[in-house]
Amino acid sequence: MKTFPENFLWGAAASAPQTEGGAFEGGKSASTWDKWFELEPERFNAEQGPSITSDVYHRYKEDILLMKDIGMNSYRTSIAWTRLLPDGKTLNQEAVTFYRKYFTAMIENGVEPIINLFHFDMPWWLMEKGGWEVRESVDHFAFYAKTAFEQFGDLVKKWTTFNEPIVHIECGYLSNFHYPCKHDFKLAVQVGYHTLMAHVYAVKEFRKAGIPDGKIGIILNISPAYPKSDSPEDLEAKERADHVNIYSFLDPAVLGVIPDKLIDLFERNELLPMVESYDRELIAENTVDFVGMNYYQPLRVKAAVDPRFPAKDRSDFYNGYIWPERRMNDYRGWEIYPEALYDVAMLMKEKYHNIPWYVSENGMGVAEEERFTDAKGQIKDDYRIDFVKEHLEQLHKGIEAGSQCFGYHMWTFVDCWSWLNGYRNRYGFYRVDIENDCKRTLKKSGAWYKQLIENNGC
Ligand code: NOJ
Repeated sequence: MKTFPENFLWGAAASAPQTEGGAFEGGKSASTWDKWFELEPERFNAEQGPSITSDVYHRYKEDILLMKDIGMNSYRTSIAWTRLLPDGKTLNQEAVTFYRKYFTAMIENGVEPIINLFHFDMPWWLMEKGGWEVRESVDHFAFYAKTAFEQFGDLVKKWTTFNEPIVHIECGYLSNFHYPCKHDFKLAVQVGYHTLMAHVYAVKEFRKAGIPDGKIGIILNISPAYPKSDSPEDLEAKERADHVNIYSFLDPAVLGVIPDKLIDLFERNELLPMVESYDRELIAENTVDFVGMNYYQPLRVKAAVDPRFPAKDRSDFYNGYIWPERRMNDYRGWEIYPEALYDVAMLMKEKYHNIPWYVSENGMGVAEEERFTDAKGQIKDDYRIDFVKEHLEQLHKGIEAGSQCFGYHMWTFVDCWSWLNGYRNRYGFYRVDIENDCKRTLKKSGAWYKQLIENNGC
């Protein structure tokens, strides 16, 4: 058996916009997702929008008991900025009451809340001004962060600023999956830079708040790049991919510096963003205490074919290729490669002074899971169990080699709403029947996870 360290965090992750629902209740204002769905519902799978999702706004108590049932000792979700500060300035007391009850119920049931501030859910009032395109967004976010720490700092000890910041940049400004669906590399870099500064200012507010035993981190998606060959061109493609997709946030967040190679690459391609003279010092002063790593899939890269200059997209820095030995999760189009989790563990140990970190997301989205229901009504998701086991094996190897990983969170606990994909792919330990009042039913993987937690290993 592979036993994990004492007090290891076992749990799951989700976010406010993907689970809460109550989109227009309790004084909440519209997020960009609420508004975009109103404007273009046909862009969303089966026109499933964000207004109800898994109805956690009304069912959080019931859900927390279900978490307890499978032995989870921690859960990450987020606060909806639009609920706490509907106009960006005025504190919504109803939101304070809701989140205080929600977090208290977790704590009373032995589930430690890890609370994130931004999970792709830009307020609509700020998006109308340009969202992360404008520097003003940094100050708004800092105020929101400060407010959250003041209101909930007595309950929540582990905080994170952003979830997967690269994703709202790439999906909103390089591809067509998040509003405002622009395609502009230079603007994408500016949006990324403002996001980084918003993170830095939030960390600064956190230090000022002086929450006893409080820790602050950031959650990044990591797809380590593996080059097609050892040729200098393919190795350079790997370096570029890692710099753009990983080190761009990980280096400033943990080491307090933006990597020179990234600055140089952007400079040569006329992509440098507008900055303030004092930013560099602020980045250096406001590093994190821990990191969350969302790992799903690796990135296979080779040298770019016919790169444009200056670059118009990441494909001018590196190209993807199909690794002949790959195994796939075809529902999501993602490669399954557990070995990368060991590499992530070693990266954290060796390049990032062995900072404490945890697997903040890992999991498997599968469509039409009802196909696997048995006679008693349980979904037999053995594929998910195999997936987790294989990943935990690699993680365990990394911990044995000295990496300071303190937990493992699955995406997710109950099936949730997934942006443009709506409820197509399911990820949860519990099935959510969206046709039947969001009824929850335990899947086989949930029962298996309970055993795993009881044994602190598998
Ligand atoms: C990453 C994101 O944090 C989450 O919002 C998304 O639904 C899952 N991974 C699954 O793709």
